[in-house]
Amino acid sequence: MANKNLNAAKTAKKDEFYTQMGDIERELQHYWPHFRDKVVLCNCDDPYESNFFKYFALNFNQLGLKKLICTCFDGSPVQGLELQLPFEWEPEVDELAKAAEPAALYGGQRKSAYKVEISEVKDMNGDGAVDLSDVQYLLKNDKNAISLLKQHGDFRSQECIELLKEADIVVTNPPFSLFREYVGQLMKYEKKFIIVGNQGAIIYKEIFPCVINNKIWLGYGFKGGAAHFVSPYQDTATATDHREGMIRVSGVHWFTNLEIPKRNEELDLVCRYSPEDYPTFDNYNAINVSRTQDIPRDYSGIMGVPITFLDKYNPNQFEIIWQASGNTRASAPTSVLQRLGYVPHPDDRGGCGVINGKRQYSRILIRNKHPQRP
Ligand SMILES: C[S@@+](CC[C@H](N)C(=O)[O-])C[C@H]1O[C@@H](n2cnc3c(N)ncnc32)[C@H](O)[C@@H]1O
Repeated sequence: MANKNLNAAKTAKKDEFYTQMGDIERELQHYWPHFRDKVVLCNCDDPYESNFFKYFALNFNQLGLKKLICTCFDGSPVQGLELQLPFEWEPEVDELAKAAEPAALYGGQRKSAYKVEISEVKDMNGDGAVDLSDVQYLLKNDKNAISLLKQHGDFRSQECIELLKEADIVVTNPPFSLFREYVGQLMKYEKKFIIVGNQGAIIYKEIFPCVINNKIWLGYGFKGGAAHFVSPYQDTATATDHREGMIRVSGVHWFTNLEIPKRNEELDLVCRYSPEDYPTFDNYNAINVSRTQDIPRDYSGIMGVPITFLDKYNPNQFEIIWQASGNTRASAPTSVLQRLGYVPHPDDRGGCGVINGKRQYSRILIRNKHPQRP
């Protein structure tokens, strides 16, 4: 069932979904040129649990990173369960922890919030290879590499914001329940990013304007549009494709503002417009296109296409005008509604397209910038 796991998690503010190394590798292979000499921040990542940390630590030299910073939130219920390193410096941490803000403020049950900062990865243990064991050696032996945070490691805390300011590129899978705030903060500090999120978030009223203004777009994505995350929660959504210790979440995607080749790929259009195949909405001066691959190549007016179109969106080929969804009436400027020829319909529930009195799924309203002559 689409998104059932994710919606349940969002409602319950359950945010423990750990991204698999294979998924990170598959996506990030397309971004390598961006990382040279850059400071990368993973700010929702327990280094001992997060494959983002491991990915950047392992590829530190090949990517030519300047620095890797990772901050760990102290509210993670699984923190410490899969430690690959003992906290040999625990007594000292405990001392520091006493000086930090009272855990009770945050409902108790907090663990240590800390940060890791790495500026070089070399053969530290002298075994002839540079790998994760060197990173482990570094964390064990270099007190400057790892230190306790005072403010719980919340990405919104001032000390995490200071680290954000220092970063060039933020890469993580942030808490699904705080996605709007998370993206808002990245925008505020004008950071480059590659993050995981629910594809549906793209039409949130806080995020969609960034899509229109080409400040956010979709990356390459997960296989089949679904991800298996390592998670302590029960997989309630799928009977098939179940993997032990994992939860399958459909409709997740990578969001970024880094240039990737995909963004310049043009969608091949083969269909031709006809009024029979592409009915006009009752409440918009736009035609309905049920599948992205059916976008007519010769139509110059406004078209309502499925949200999944955004996975194929090339700003040189198409202009995004707005969305026809439950958000539209509340979020669209009057000038945009006028351009769309929008006339409220009693059944459009906030602005969905209606055809012959029947409300349609949410649509993205676009225009082909270079339609073929009919
Ligand atoms: C979806 S999980 C992803 C974890 C990790 N980034 C990964 O992909 O494997 C989100 C993580 O954010 C942490 N988290 C929740 N609220 C947070 C906050 N306010 N600030 C920072 N991290 C938070 C959760 O504990 C959880 O580990």
